[in-house]
Amino acid sequence: MSALFAPDSDAMQRALALLADMSFEEKLGQMNQVNGDGGHISGDLAQAIREGRVGSVINEVNPDIIVQLQRIAVHESRCGIPLLIGRDVIHGFKTIFPIPLGLASSWCPDTIESAARISALEASEIGINWTFSPMIDICRDPRWGRVAECFGEDPVLCSTLAVAMVKGYQTDDLASQGAIAACAKHFVGYGASESGRDYNTTNISEHDLRNVHMPSFHAASNNNVATFMTSFSDVNGEPVSANKWLLTDVLKDEWHFGGLVVSDWASVHQLTVHGIAGCDRHAAELAINAGVDMEMVSATFISYGHQLIHENKVQQQRIDQAVARILAVKFALGLFDQGVTNLPAPKHNLAAHLDASRVCAEKSCVLLKNQSHTLPLNTDKLNSVALLGMLADDDYEQLGTWIFDGDITRSCTLHQGLRNVLPDHVAINYHKVFDNTRDCDTKHIPDAITLASASDAVIVCVGEEAILSGEAHCRAELGLPGAQQQLINALSEHLSSKGVPLILVVMAGRPLAIESAVQQVDALLYAWHPGSMGGAAIANLLVGNAVPSGKLPITFPRKVGQIPIYHSVKPGGRPVNRDNFVHMDAFPMRAEQTSLGMSSSHMDTDFTPLFPFGFGLSYTHFAYHDVILDNLLLHTGDTLGVSLAVTNQGHVAGDEVVQLYIRDHVASATRPVRELKAFQRVSLQPGETQRVKFHLPADELAFFDARGKRCLEPGTFTLWVGGDSNAALCADFELVGEVA
Ligand code: BGC
Repeated sequence: MSALFAPDSDAMQRALALLADMSFEEKLGQMNQVNGDGGHISGDLAQAIREGRVGSVINEVNPDIIVQLQRIAVHESRCGIPLLIGRDVIHGFKTIFPIPLGLASSWCPDTIESAARISALEASEIGINWTFSPMIDICRDPRWGRVAECFGEDPVLCSTLAVAMVKGYQTDDLASQGAIAACAKHFVGYGASESGRDYNTTNISEHDLRNVHMPSFHAASNNNVATFMTSFSDVNGEPVSANKWLLTDVLKDEWHFGGLVVSDWASVHQLTVHGIAGCDRHAAELAINAGVDMEMVSATFISYGHQLIHENKVQQQRIDQAVARILAVKFALGLFDQGVTNLPAPKHNLAAHLDASRVCAEKSCVLLKNQSHTLPLNTDKLNSVALLGMLADDDYEQLGTWIFDGDITRSCTLHQGLRNVLPDHVAINYHKVFDNTRDCDTKHIPDAITLASASDAVIVCVGEEAILSGEAHCRAELGLPGAQQQLINALSEHLSSKGVPLILVVMAGRPLAIESAVQQVDALLYAWHPGSMGGAAIANLLVGNAVPSGKLPITFPRKVGQIPIYHSVKPGGRPVNRDNFVHMDAFPMRAEQTSLGMSSSHMDTDFTPLFPFGFGLSYTHFAYHDVILDNLLLHTGDTLGVSLAVTNQGHVAGDEVVQLYIRDHVASATRPVRELKAFQRVSLQPGETQRVKFHLPADELAFFDARGKRCLEPGTFTLWVGGDSNAALCADFELVGEVA
């Protein structure tokens, strides 16, 4: 239950009192969100606000205009209701943090909370009071461009980070200065768009909806998130913006979400395109009755609300409920109490924000390969470094998708970052090689080889420009675009006999299927789109001023055909393993139909992922040992105490993300071969051993069965602890008691 908007909360009580004074037109006005005029105010917009026909304005970022809009709303409209000023502040406002998938690689709620806090401070300074973030869709298909915006494949990781991000935006006191309303989006299932193609249909059983796609939203709702946004997609044949079961029965009635539900951009009108509404009036009827409280930009509520009430297609009571929720959010934000008609003087500390951006990026980069301790670079032994690839020196592309307001003058590129950390005598031989990452022109590859051959180490920075991920930017292939793989081929061929290390830095908005590149290079640092201070962070990691600690929040496929590939798969009846897998290259001629394999695999690629969920290397090594369970017979209602020892066996201090997975061996519904249940980031000095403790309530062993019923069933469980989803250290325990 979100206490902030409970029926007896101050915000809701004040909302209901105000509602009693409003005309029907004014109520419909609150349900209407309009797009700003872009740096000015048209007469139409001013008049609409004056007449109480607008509840929220989206995409206005000129602070003077925002203040003027609020003045009209507060001083010139009859009810004087302030506006919600919405904006997509997704991974930073002026200071940009790593893309959310990168932030998730930190597995660090505190880091994510601080990024959101800074984003809220910067955005609120210009009058924004509502961000459309966090995006907490679960995604297991990196073809989908919006994978960049989410926290990855796992419900437990995503739920934890969702709560942290909401807290960062909203703080513990939504009415305090610098706090803004968060928005849990896109409820629900959007990340399961078929074939990873944006806006595509989704077909998700209730079993998967409740076990996989809903937990992050439920967690956000339980933790006072002020708003929810509907998904564009249809789920099992019903577009979410018209889905009463999802928006009202589950979200509002079952979970007691008390804030407001906004549609996505024109998703109410799009009900006519989906083909479930015959016209905009019908679309408005379906969306209002389903539980959408505010409509983003398509203006069907304001246009047809009157008629729908008149025809008895929508009940007055439903309108009152919607408006009460909208007003309650405005009261909870303190908009009626603080001076929205004047902005506080900007006072944020730019240096501190940039520093936070750097720290986030350092924690977000994932070291995926480090053969023969190639990294960190020993700068004492270097005289020159070749730095290749346009992404290494581009202040815009490193910021990633959804950076409407990002200030590129705050960017530090990898080229600049390296210059700052390398001793003066080390020459940086830079060549951009390509104009963009899609460039197929190989004409500069020979120059790159010449530079590489004359250098002591080669850093090649490849990947995707920002525009290759994000909304409506999906890919069917997941290799390196353009001729980047050809560059790596040429470098690997020329350098293999020379002993010059080849280091790959990848900046991308998604996991890329780069199996051959991984084999060709000595080291690989996956930096995602790392944000404003990405270059400084990567440089620090490359030279050992910082130690990598990021872990993958999503499984990396070897080939597109393996998708969806994720750690918490079901066993199936014929699981694949090393003993029953046969690659087709090893098939003898005329083998009998049933003589080979017969297990769940693709015969033209190994069955394992390129990199598993939770994986990431460090410059040190952590050993796991001595797992102790405080109770081998757990009763429902008990909490299992798990403790284990982690030792830093290397010579540098480092952070490790300790992960706990379980398997429920026999249940009334099939259960994953492994499920993440908990994680903790620990810092260890060289040689230090720490005991890490987890508390796992028996209740968290519950699951939803095929019909969506929550079940907590006795039986045997195995628990693993370790540094990734292949963790080997394990122990068994029993859950005893009645089936609940
Ligand atoms: C996106 C949302 C976003 C909204 C407002 C839509 O196209 O799906 O995530 O918040 O636009 O910009």
